Amino acid sequence: MPVHGLTPILLCLLTMCRILTPVSSHPQHNPCQLIQRTALCNNRNLSAVPERQPDNLEEFQLNYNHIQTLRDNSLLRYPSLNTLSLACNSLEKLESNTFQGTKLLENLNLANNNLRIGYQETSLALKTLPKLRALDLSENELDDEMVATLLQNLTSLEYLNLSGNFMQRLDETSFRDLYQLKELNLQRNMMYELDGAFDSNPKLQRLNLAFNYLHCLTDFHMTELVVLNASHNFIEWFISRQDLNDIFQLETLDLSDNKLLFFPFLPNHSHLRNLYLSHNSISFYQHLADNSTFPNSTSTVEFYNMQENTGNVTAQLWDESLHGDISSLEILDLRGNQVEYFPQGFIQKMPVLSRLQMCTNCLETLNLTLEQFSGSLYELDISNNRLNQIVADGGT
Ligand SMILES: *[C@@H]1O[C@H](CO)[C@@H](O)[C@H](O)[C@H]1NC(C)=O
Ligand SMILES: *[C@@H]1O[C@H](CO)[C@@H](O)[C@H](O)[C@H]1NC(C)=O
Ligand SMILES: *[C@@H]1O[C@H](CO)[C@@H](O)[C@H](O)[C@H]1NC(C)=O
Ligand SMILES: *[C@@H]1O[C@H](CO)[C@@H](O)[C@H](O)[C@H]1NC(C)=O
Ligand SMILES: *[C@@H]1O[C@H](CO)[C@@H](O)[C@H](O)[C@H]1NC(C)=O
Ligand SMILES: *[C@@H]1O[C@H](CO)[C@@H](O)[C@H](O)[C@H]1NC(C)=O
Ligand SMILES: *[C@@H]1O[C@H](CO)[C@@H](O)[C@H](O)[C@H]1NC(C)=O
Ligand SMILES: *[C@@H]1O[C@H](CO)[C@@H](O)[C@H](O)[C@H]1NC(C)=O
Ligand SMILES: *[C@@H]1O[C@H](CO)[C@@H](O)[C@H](O)[C@H]1NC(C)=O
Repeated sequence: MPVHGLTPILLCLLTMCRILTPVSSHPQHNPCQLIQRTALCNNRNLSAVPERQPDNLEEFQLNYNHIQTLRDNSLLRYPSLNTLSLACNSLEKLESNTFQGTKLLENLNLANNNLRIGYQETSLALKTLPKLRALDLSENELDDEMVATLLQNLTSLEYLNLSGNFMQRLDETSFRDLYQLKELNLQRNMMYELDGAFDSNPKLQRLNLAFNYLHCLTDFHMTELVVLNASHNFIEWFISRQDLNDIFQLETLDLSDNKLLFFPFLPNHSHLRNLYLSHNSISFYQHLADNSTFPNSTSTVEFYNMQENTGNVTAQLWDESLHGDISSLEILDLRGNQVEYFPQGFIQKMPVLSRLQMCTNCLETLNLTLEQFSGSLYELDISNNRLNQIVADGGT
């Protein structure tokens, strides 16, 4: 029978296995999938870092497991490790010598864990990473003091995600050591105050403050910032510092879903291209500048700053020059506001405008000839207004 003929060969193979793995009689199954120098061990119900990965490992993916503590010896064997991801474990702490053998680590993802419990020891571990560039600490229930502790001395950090934590107020010490910071995500916290918080981060280019409790952004003077997202707050005033002659690098400003009554007071000189202002209560008030109607109405607002080192801000209302530099605007989203008319010359100040979204406002008339829209306009949405007259001559 052919079956009998095979038996000796199988026995022989089993014997060879024993010879090849003398230490353990059961060859261990590696829970990780190896692809070049990456070990993929996501979602494997692991409660510790699996051993016996190749020594030259560069990336370790351990998301969706049950690792509670990252032990001092767990990464010792991987000196080339560059990326480590431990999101969605129940991680409470990293022991302070966790990274003693992995000095090349640049990307560390610790999102969605319980680091609030062991943040102090974890902060000692993070300090030992001289090349750390990207750190994700989102969804860890961290408060202001815990975050300040965790970020101490992280001078090489460029990308930081703190979204979904319990931060309430920032001051000039919050990100003090992060000189190289380029991108910061603070969305979905409970922040109501940002006192000089970014003064030590001159390279910051992208800042996300969406879904917080901010009431105003006055004295805005972050000239290097390219994208600012402050949507979904309670912002009543956005006022840029008026005495700066610098060109702001700002290209995208998202202030949608706030409480603005006035068009934001933008920087005098900027490259602003995308301005999102939907779902506020913005209106223009040029008609009030005719003060015979309201002889005693105020024309300035003062913002007093409790901190000695930042000046008071005075804003001149009704002054149309305060719209700032809108000459590079390509997208202006004003959906869901209270705009009744455009101030004189406002549209002409935007010669490269391509989209103007005005639906759900209070426009009553629109004279396209008078406004002189840019030649590059290809979307003009004026649905759901109170329009009873739209005028345009043949050329328009
Ligand atoms: C996960 O591991 C625990 C023990 O570490 C075990 O009790 C449980 O059955 C495992 N779950 C699955 C889905 O393997
Ligand atoms: C952290 O920075 C402080 C100064 O901000 C310095 O005194 C301390 O030695 C630094 N610690 C480490 C571990 O680099
Ligand atoms: C955190 O922000 C970075 C970009 O700054 C992003 O790549 C990452 O997906 C974010 N993490 C979470 C959990 O949102
Ligand atoms: C601002 O953040 C909100 C919330 O994350 C997001 O929906 C929106 O797209 C962002 N805005 C821009 C301009 O990216
Ligand atoms: C910026 O514009 C405001 C309002 O027009 C003006 O008062 C201020 O002097 C300008 N600042 C600079 C530096 O040009
Ligand atoms: C307010 O009224 C006075 C006198 O009627 C006039 O001189 C002044 O220009 C008005 N101010 C504005 C901003 O129109
Ligand atoms: C404006 O103020 C003056 C002086 O305070 C007062 O006499 C006058 O009645 C006020 N006018 C209106 C319309 O309130
Ligand atoms: C801001 O205004 C308050 C109230 O008038 C004043 O006491 C304070 O000195 C001002 N601060 C600055 C920096 O000018
Ligand atoms: C529309 O504007 C043009 C150019 O300013 C003007 O000549 C025309 O009379 C205006 N039409 C109406 C109905 O106001």
